[in-house]
Amino acid sequence: RRLRNLLVVTIVGGGFYYGYRSYKNYKWYQEITESDEVIGSKPRIVVLGSGWGAVPLLKHLDSKKYEVVCVSPRNYFLMTPLLPSVSVGTVETRTVIESIRSLVGPRVKYVEADCVDIDPKSKTITCNSDGANPVSRGDDVKAIVKSSKREGGASSRIIKDSARSRPQFQMKYDALVVAIGSENNTFNTPGVEEHAHFLKEVLDARRIRSAISDAFESANTPSQTDEERKRLLHFVVVGGGPTGVEFAAELADLVREDLHHYFPRLVANDVKITLIEALDHVLSMMDKQISDYTEKHFRRENIEVLMNTFVKEVKQREVVIQFKGSNQLTSIPCSVVVWATGIKARPLTNRIREIIGLKVQSNRMGILTDRYLRVKGVEDGSIFAIGDCATIEQPKLVDQIQTLFEEADTQHRGALDLQQFKLLVERKVAEFPQLDIFSKTIEKTFQEADKDKSGFLTLAALHLALEKADRKIRALPATAQVASQEGRYVADLLNQIPNLSANDYQQHDLKPFRYKHMGSLAYVGSDSAVLDFTGTRPILDLFNLQPLSGRSAAYLWKSFYFTEMFTGRTKTLLAFDWIRTHLYGRDISRY
Ligand code: FAD
Ligand code: NAI
Repeated sequence: RRLRNLLVVTIVGGGFYYGYRSYKNYKWYQEITESDEVIGSKPRIVVLGSGWGAVPLLKHLDSKKYEVVCVSPRNYFLMTPLLPSVSVGTVETRTVIESIRSLVGPRVKYVEADCVDIDPKSKTITCNSDGANPVSRGDDVKAIVKSSKREGGASSRIIKDSARSRPQFQMKYDALVVAIGSENNTFNTPGVEEHAHFLKEVLDARRIRSAISDAFESANTPSQTDEERKRLLHFVVVGGGPTGVEFAAELADLVREDLHHYFPRLVANDVKITLIEALDHVLSMMDKQISDYTEKHFRRENIEVLMNTFVKEVKQREVVIQFKGSNQLTSIPCSVVVWATGIKARPLTNRIREIIGLKVQSNRMGILTDRYLRVKGVEDGSIFAIGDCATIEQPKLVDQIQTLFEEADTQHRGALDLQQFKLLVERKVAEFPQLDIFSKTIEKTFQEADKDKSGFLTLAALHLALEKADRKIRALPATAQVASQEGRYVADLLNQIPNLSANDYQQHDLKPFRYKHMGSLAYVGSDSAVLDFTGTRPILDLFNLQPLSGRSAAYLWKSFYFTEMFTGRTKTLLAFDWIRTHLYGRDISRY
């Protein structure tokens, strides 16, 4: 009986809650359908983007106080950490995307468009919706039509698109948040755009999946020569950052767990995966132990890792490489090339920097902001920038440390006790937030500089080590973790201030943004992952957590991304995908 009563209470309670939410949504919807061009009764906040920075912001902005509008060419949120899994079919496409409308509800007005220009004086953005293509990336539509025709499938979706008619439009804002992310960096390497695959959007992952299947089916054609078969089954990944490493790992899983059953001879004799990295180790942003573990693990997985090697050109059937310290160029025949050498600013990011003035916006990595994430050089403070497209202005670490060193060296001996220095750093983190974020790195730098292990350091020795550290740690990493914390911070900040005027920031004693690093994770294949706690929050630091690798890290990786999935729908799909892959393997058909 008790159980029955509990069930009844749950169902009735759930019903009321559902009714209440529907009513609230209905009210929100009524509020939001005001005119697009004229400012309504509430101040309007326009958010550019629908990714990791924008979604937490949209979810937490107070829509009773503001009219919230999201403008983005992508009408869904993409769970980027699972893209490597999508590219080999471990996880299906629909699992990693969630409609922006269902995520933020009708209280946020969404417009599918590319912002192409902004005018901070008249507080207006100009948007182009026709460019927002059906597959959500700035691809050349003609190229898509051509490739779709060749692939004999989706072309009808594009050619028969009579439902598309969207004029350019302008929209006013009271506050603008730029969260437009970044794009792939090819470093102008010849042939990359034409012949290599990127792994940044969901369409990229689908194309790679299709290309892998294509390579195996082609290699399986009876008349194929040995040489051509070997070329077709040579997969090259350029860039040993987390994207390249995770993709190579997923590809090795696909070969070992699935393709091996369907193409046993090809897998045994001809398949080769090569990861090419310009530096002397992979995952260079992580602890050295993790890089070493990953390299060894890859060797066991038959992934060849070429370190100290630059890719100079990508051709249709080969990549041209150069080893460090050698002038000679070598060609490697291959079929599928995945290019993952990092990111750069989007054209709109650079346009915004130009409009504001490159003198203030001197950082080429992204839009420079102050510690409240307001864009530098916009006097009324009405534009914010977050995520991959933004960089918070930080004084150089070397300068910060030099100031602290001089303060700590009260006896002017020019040498310093590490313990004494650490105490000072702890006291100063409010002033120099970078010290907090990277306190572990600083300690490591100290240990490296203190070669004679005396526990005392000279400023000269420190300087040398810090110059190296500075290059690595000046900007916050371009990660989902940073973007989502920034999005949440701007939402809280905007919800707190009564007006969107410049004075509000001083009057309301707002706290500047402080990033809380929770550790870095990467999947390295064969049910193993790596986890680095360097620079994590002080609370985690207390446990003195060491880098983790292997199966336990893989469980953490899986549970972390499972909980990170935004909705019950995608959580369910992800659980089913993992179970399906485990029980029945991946679907290797090309579509
Ligand atoms: P995005 O999430 O890229 O969102 C940008 C949004 O802006 C998009 O919706 C886009 O359509 C929109 N947009 C673009 N141009 C315009 C325009 N002109 N007008 C309006 N809107 C526009 N980070 C981690 O922390 N952990 C991971 O495990 C991890 N794995 C990753 C795996 C891969 C394969 C990749 C590619 C990245 C991964 N990252 C990871 C990095 C992470 O995805 C990015 O740092 C994060 O997406 C940045 O968030 P963002 O909001 O700045 O940009
Ligand atoms: P990255 O910048 O982290 O790494 C790119 C690598 O490519 C570098 O190691 C670089 O030395 C190498 N490289 C550059 N040019 C080369 C060339 N011509 N030949 C050979 N190697 C070359 O880039 P990645 O992996 O694309 O990541 C982009 C961003 O997304 C990063 O900020 C990263 O932190 C984030 N990310 C985080 C993940 C995680 O936390 N698990 C997963 C994927 C991405």
